[in-house]
Amino acid sequence: MRTLRTVPELRTAVRAARRQDPTGAIGLVPTMGALHDGHLELIRRARLECEHVVVSLFVNPAQFNASADLAAYPRDESRDAGVASDAGADFLFAPSLETVYPPGFATSVQLSGPIAESLEGAHRGAAHFHGVTTVVTKLFNMVQPDVAFFGQKDAQQVLVIRKLVADLDLPVRIETVPTVREPDGLARSSRNVRLQGDDRPLALALRAGLTAAERAFTAGARDAGTVHAAALAAMTDLGVAPEYLALVDPLTLAPVDAIDDGTLVAVAAHVGGTRLIDNTTLGTTPNGRR
Ligand code: PAF
Repeated sequence: MRTLRTVPELRTAVRAARRQDPTGAIGLVPTMGALHDGHLELIRRARLECEHVVVSLFVNPAQFNASADLAAYPRDESRDAGVASDAGADFLFAPSLETVYPPGFATSVQLSGPIAESLEGAHRGAAHFHGVTTVVTKLFNMVQPDVAFFGQKDAQQVLVIRKLVADLDLPVRIETVPTVREPDGLARSSRNVRLQGDDRPLALALRAGLTAAERAFTAGARDAGTVHAAALAAMTDLGVAPEYLALVDPLTLAPVDAIDDGTLVAVAAHVGGTRLIDNTTLGTTPNGRR
């Protein structure tokens, strides 16, 4: 695996890969590092589907709403490089802050509407997804991948990026990879390393809430209030209050009153000092896509 730092270096490498294999797809796995099994699954999927795999590693300040959260974000590039290489990446694109946001940088790519403004957008502030869409647009332009891979754990981010790609006619296919969980059900996240002592068992409250929603749905509940109450009770029984716990349409993120197959249940909660998110799709339809 080669580590690339600048856009000219990256473009030369990607062009050479395309020349060597004109029909081979270039796959991009965008990350902010602190790679865990969820990222490994993205890289493995990219490896299976694409001839050339680029993993990007850039902690994007523009998408953090709290400077303490940005400062606390785990960073260990040499570890991440080893992990990405072992998982089958061909290139690690690890640009500096100045490469992505050179002095005088003044452009922002902003999605409006409920897909970006509800849930995470409402709670973290509009700047969060503006930061995501700006950096992802830049990464797509820098790497020019055929396919890009994102995790379903960030279900709203996937919808935002699909909309971005559709609205701007970006020539990239978006693939969603199911959430990878720890053996006890906690969704893999770079933030999990921050869960200290008693916080770790408390973090299971998010999955417990989602499981309660799944059980209520399987038992026949179709009223959003009933399913919501079951999920909320499971979380509060474990001593965790959600920041939001929402039953929404999986494509528009509009709140639903009546649940059906494919309804997305999305949750965010603070556990100790760590903010976690998770989601599930009710019924049998995978990944919230009908
Ligand atoms: O999901 C993430 O890690 C980030 O939001 C992404 C897509 C790499 C953009 O910074």
